[in-house]
Amino acid sequence: MPFEIESTVLDNRYVAKETFGIYFYAPQIAHTAIPGQFVMVSAGEKFLRRPFSIASVSGSKIFLLVRVVGEGSAIISSLRRNERVRILGPLGNGFPNDVKSPLLIGGGIGIAPMIFAAQHLKSIGKNPKMIYGEQNSDKIISEDFLPDEIEISTDNGSFGFRGTAADLLLQQNPAPIFACGPEPMLKGIAKIAAQWNVPAWFSLEARMACGFGVCQGCVIKTKQGYKRVCTDGPVFQTEIIY
Ligand SMILES: Cc1cc2nc3c(=O)[nH]c(=O)nc-3n(C[C@H](O)[C@H](O)[C@H](O)COP(=O)(O)OP(=O)(O)OC[C@H]3O[C@@H](n4cnc5c(N)ncnc54)[C@H](O)[C@@H]3O)c2cc1C
Ligand code: FES
Repeated sequence: MPFEIESTVLDNRYVAKETFGIYFYAPQIAHTAIPGQFVMVSAGEKFLRRPFSIASVSGSKIFLLVRVVGEGSAIISSLRRNERVRILGPLGNGFPNDVKSPLLIGGGIGIAPMIFAAQHLKSIGKNPKMIYGEQNSDKIISEDFLPDEIEISTDNGSFGFRGTAADLLLQQNPAPIFACGPEPMLKGIAKIAAQWNVPAWFSLEARMACGFGVCQGCVIKTKQGYKRVCTDGPVFQTEIIY
């Protein structure tokens, strides 16, 4: 069940080009959230709330990675310590809990829910492999906020493996996949999952107005009919989508 809370910003750090890591005091959300779920954060009076994946939890805190792409994310990224902001969450379904040793793949800011997935898997004694792809080194999230066991690719080769996250995935042993990132990356990963004959779950993004199933703004067409990304997802098994 989601909670509508007035949260306090505990810290806000610059973590990569145009990207901020923000800690919020949000005990109800921190205690109930599962990886893949998201929150809707108020972006002031002028704008609708904006969706952000929960990137990790600790105690009563949630951590979000906010990449600035427009006015709403710019407002949220400029929140300062002790400012108060309304947050709704946790929302959506999250990744399944019963998958043995998934490979975690984050493309761009899609790394956010994968960090939470890695944190959760570690907490239950697993040691997940993680792949993180960015366009270039400027955008790589500071290592302070990334799990230790991570392989990084950049499209231009400015850091780590030269190529896409999907190229780097091809170098791994087949395993079930959890992924989040841009559409072309997810399509490439869906093909690899099909070749490997392994299941894959993707966390999708869509424009969202309400975040809880009412406005129909986030509806996508799937092989099982129309689905709302906010309540039927954001995590979908790949064969439903591609
Ligand atoms: C479930 C979910 C989880 C998300 N998690 C994160 C996260 O952890 N970190 C993060 O930085 N962002 C995340 N996003 C994306 C984030 O919500 C948008 O970047 C933000 O709402 C943009 O608001 P804005 O006012 O800054 O930009 P706008 O002015 O609304 O848009 C600026 C540009 O971004 C594009 N855009 C906006 N929203 C989306 C979207 N949802 N999908 C694709 N393109 C979009 C617009 O088409 C436009 O080109 C998530 C989105 C969803 C649906
Ligand atoms: S965002 Fe309103 S129904 Fe999904």
